[in-house]
Amino acid sequence: MNTQSNGASAPASRIWLDGALREADGARVSVFDHGLTAGDGVFETLKATNGGAFALDRHLRRLATSARGLGLPEPDLDEAREACAAVLAANPMEHGRLRITYTGGLSPLSSDRGDTGPTLVVALGAAKRRPDSTAVITVPWVRNERGALAGLKTTSYAENVLALSRAHEHDATEALFANTVGALCEGTGSNVFVVLDGELHTPTLASGCLAGITRALTIEWTGAKETELPYDVLDRAEEVFLTSSLRDVQAVHRIHGEAGERLLPGAPGPVTAKAMRVFEERSAAEPNP
Ligand SMILES: Cc1ncc(COP(=O)(O)O)c(C=O)c1O
Repeated sequence: MNTQSNGASAPASRIWLDGALREADGARVSVFDHGLTAGDGVFETLKATNGGAFALDRHLRRLATSARGLGLPEPDLDEAREACAAVLAANPMEHGRLRITYTGGLSPLSSDRGDTGPTLVVALGAAKRRPDSTAVITVPWVRNERGALAGLKTTSYAENVLALSRAHEHDATEALFANTVGALCEGTGSNVFVVLDGELHTPTLASGCLAGITRALTIEWTGAKETELPYDVLDRAEEVFLTSSLRDVQAVHRIHGEAGERLLPGAPGPVTAKAMRVFEERSAAEPNP
């Protein structure tokens, strides 16, 4: 496996494509695939640990929900499950990122979708365990909570690519978005939680954020409240943390905003530390919650 300059690892050598396990080097998707030409697809990222994928059933359910939302044919979840198992077994690793991608398939060179059927790819790459805390930035761009793709996990992620590269310029690993009405929404690939007066809050789904699986489990396991929060809550929250499949619960120790930097010394603070502990214990006890 090749290690790339950004510290991430190259994908594993065997992937699932067109109904079977294949050598990644020889596996090809058409240049006319609508995933490539139009970003017409949905995906899932799962944490893979020693041959198992965390919360597989929830991820498959969300894949189907996203596909339905985009008007793609219903995915064959039995095949997706078989593909995940085959790819995990073919590429043993301690800690990885398992990715399911499901696109509109062969299509004309336009926004019209073709009728040859979708493409399903499952691939796995090694991942590094994240540090307990990280830095984030705020960005001037907004999530559209009224957009056709709001709440769907689609492959149209170029806005996230741009915001994340801006974050890296500031030595941060995530960018946090407001929505069109100035409410706190989510990160490029994570949900956000804040502590106010000792209580844990996260934006409601009406903010336009993705219904993160780590978010849902964190709410369930900590009793966090879903609250409409203004974006500038980031200037005064006692603690801030992120959740995602590969971050689990991760504290924020620095927020780089337009007006300067806010440090959160001592992160993870007590509420975050407790959420991290609870998440670690419960997820270890229930690998498919
Ligand atoms: C935009 C966005 N929000 C939130 C999340 C977190 O979701 P999950 O906890 O299911 O990984 C992701 C995951 O990649 C994401 O892409």
